[in-house]
Amino acid sequence: MTSYDYQEALKNAAKTMVRVKNPRRLLKMIVRFIVREVGLHHASILMFDQLKQRYIFVDSQGSHRIPISLVKLDHSNPLIHWFSNWEKKVKLTKDFLILEDLKAWIQDPALTGQHPTLKTKLLSLKEVMETLKATVCVPGFYKNELLGVLLLGGKLSGEPFLLEEINFFQTLANDASMTIKTAEFREDLIAKNVELEKQKQELEQRLQEIAELRKKEQETYYQIVMSLAHEVNAKDPYTAGHLQGVERLGLMTAQEMGYDMSGKRKDILVASLHLHDVGKIGIPDHILMKPGSLTDEEWKIMRQHPVKGAKILEPLTGFKEVANVVLHHHENYDGSGYPSGLKGEAIPLEARIVSVVDAFHAIVSKRCYSKGKPIEVAFEELERCAGTQFDPQVVGAFIRAYQRTLNGKYKKAKSASHKNVA
Ligand SMILES: [Fe+2]
Repeated sequence: MTSYDYQEALKNAAKTMVRVKNPRRLLKMIVRFIVREVGLHHASILMFDQLKQRYIFVDSQGSHRIPISLVKLDHSNPLIHWFSNWEKKVKLTKDFLILEDLKAWIQDPALTGQHPTLKTKLLSLKEVMETLKATVCVPGFYKNELLGVLLLGGKLSGEPFLLEEINFFQTLANDASMTIKTAEFREDLIAKNVELEKQKQELEQRLQEIAELRKKEQETYYQIVMSLAHEVNAKDPYTAGHLQGVERLGLMTAQEMGYDMSGKRKDILVASLHLHDVGKIGIPDHILMKPGSLTDEEWKIMRQHPVKGAKILEPLTGFKEVANVVLHHHENYDGSGYPSGLKGEAIPLEARIVSVVDAFHAIVSKRCYSKGKPIEVAFEELERCAGTQFDPQVVGAFIRAYQRTLNGKYKKAKSASHKNVA
């Protein structure tokens, strides 16, 4: 090969290396190329194997090729040691080893005389090269790491190697080392990405499981809260049978007021209408079920039910606003209610609606100690307390909606005993 040929070969090799993703395949290509184009008895490549922590032959080609499976070299091998530790040694060339140079160094007393152990090491090196039938050895480095060694047998022509040929092998070996390292980085990166993706999928699956578990817990808790509401309903003669009626009246009033009846807002209103008295589960039965008037002390306990109800609802995700309505459903429009003494618009709208329909239902419903009052009386009572206890707009909307929407039933109810009107 001429000098031009070597340069062309290097350019072609560089182009190939950029595309090669399999380092072992690349090395085999290099070995075949050298044997064929330079005309050698053999060419072989030793590569460091990370798993085995040894240098092993990945390929050997030519008529005098080495049985590659039989040779494995560790860091103590003279050849590997020489290239790995060259900077600590005498100032001999580090970039390649030529068997003929080696023999000359061994015979040079000026050189070996200055370094007592050098001759022994050079002799060991010579022995290794001869065993491996290597005329030239060229190391491939990535930074200071010895990745592999290119071993070349003699030329078929018997001619010595030219310096430009040695330079060509050096460039090839170092380019190949860079390519191999890049491929390793790429494989490492792909492996890490695969692992990351796997971890991400596992995390997503775990989060989904947690979300499903949380949803089930929420559903169970919601069922418990609804059971409590029904238990209160069953126990308390004041509220007995009135949840359905309260819901219907509440929705009717809200619609009359132009309340958003789609989606979440309606859900909040319906849940509030059903659950506003759930806190009564925490009120002793002798107070809750007392047929007569309550004492001041008993009222004090009874008035705790909005706070108790809000606390029961607190753990339910998505029931924050419902809990707030429950907390304030006994606030009065003029600020005289409980537990916070909120006034006017500061009271949640749903709580103002609950307040009106709850009161109306209580007035017209039959209780165990008194008959229900006529609807007209209930309307008068609501209107009398509009602006003080109740939001006047809610009262107005309630009466209008009641008279219009339930007109037929209202007429029937007027002639009936006014039991269970709503
Ligand atoms: Fe209440």
